[in-house]
Amino acid sequence: MRGRFITFEGIDGAGKSTQHAWLAAHLRSLGHEVVATREPGGTPLGEKLRGLLLAEHMHIETEALLMFAARREHMAQVIEPALARGAWVVCDRFVDASFAYQGGGRGLAWEKIATLRDWTLGDLQPDITFIFDVPVATAQERLAKTSNQPDRFEQEKAAFFERVRIAYHRIAAENPHRVTVIDATQTPEFINKLLKKSIASI
Ligand code: TYD
Repeated sequence: MRGRFITFEGIDGAGKSTQHAWLAAHLRSLGHEVVATREPGGTPLGEKLRGLLLAEHMHIETEALLMFAARREHMAQVIEPALARGAWVVCDRFVDASFAYQGGGRGLAWEKIATLRDWTLGDLQPDITFIFDVPVATAQERLAKTSNQPDRFEQEKAAFFERVRIAYHRIAAENPHRVTVIDATQTPEFINKLLKKSIASI
């Protein structure tokens, strides 16, 4: 039986990575084979591309193309084989991030990203996507508390993240059967319960 494909999305600082790790552990405790992975990245080549994407200034179309190049490799090497053998793939960001960040944030035409999606993904779709939604100010306060050096995206201004957040809302509205928006200002324990309930039905 084909596995399940779950993706996590949201603006930087929304808290999705913590919940991503929690859900992977939870699914393992239920006895599933779980592949916990992330984008950009998830393969040796993809992680190299990630290093470039998070550090180097580049044309916005170069940025979009490299995101999809990393994604293509990730699909071929990791996601598709895992789903084919029945594993659950839990991915921290996927194609919606390209619409939200390159489309919403950077202003690249939605249709151009849709072309790359159709080319790269074929009929692959997440079974469920969680969008972690928080006000930009809350996300920025959370980011400021971490000791990590901010990457090229995290250095963007609040207005950039407002556009990314609006794009995520658009994606949620256009894909009501696939996307669940989570109010990420709630406690981690409350969000754990929501995730548990949501995956029970897929
Ligand atoms: P993320 O893993 O959330 O960073 P962190 O390790 O700091 O939690 O994602 C890295 C960045 O890449 C994030 O700012 C969003 C960006 N991104 C895009 O712009 N487009 C994409 O398609 C993807 C997958 C990520």
